[in-house]
Amino acid sequence: MARLLIVHHTPSPTTQSMLEAVLEGARNDEIEGVEVVTSPALAATVPDLLAADAVILGTPANIGYMSGALKHFFDTVYYPCLTDTTGLPYALYAHGNSDTTGAVRAVESITKGMGWSRHRPPVTAVGDIGREESEACWELGAVTALAALERHEERTGKS
Ligand SMILES: Cc1cc2nc3c(=O)[nH]c(=O)nc-3n(C[C@H](O)[C@H](O)[C@H](O)COP(=O)(O)O)c2cc1C
Repeated sequence: MARLLIVHHTPSPTTQSMLEAVLEGARNDEIEGVEVVTSPALAATVPDLLAADAVILGTPANIGYMSGALKHFFDTVYYPCLTDTTGLPYALYAHGNSDTTGAVRAVESITKGMGWSRHRPPVTAVGDIGREESEACWELGAVTALAALERHEERTGKS
């Protein structure tokens, strides 16, 4: 079974609604053979990441950067996982009250350092979450679940 890991910092109803839309997309009935696992960024571990075939990262913008919680996740996994997660497909969603540019830049910089492969452009939202943002999150979840499946097949040689 392929595994998609969602590492998120979810401090509010708005960010919760983005997470739920991502989860709905990732767990939709059309996709088979992918286990979807969520972990708050402060609780995600090295074994969680090593077991993943793809990762979705979710963060609010905090002082022009990713959340401290997601930064803590990267501090935890960077060196222990640097060699073994090269090429890992990942996707990002970010929410802010005014501007998510710095948060996206920060995540893209560290994932580049880890040699991960951005599966698609980030989904960003400012303020309230409407239908368009929810659908973008749903799609992000679905396509990244498919990326997990593909990577799992590559790694195991099974389809
Ligand atoms: C300490 C702190 C720093 C923040 N910094 C930013 C920021 O730099 N840019 C921004 O757009 N929003 C910023 N925010 C707002 C959060 O991104 C926002 O609260 C979060 O995405 C959840 O959205 P909500 O409060 O509308 O539910 C900050 C919030 C806090 C608590």
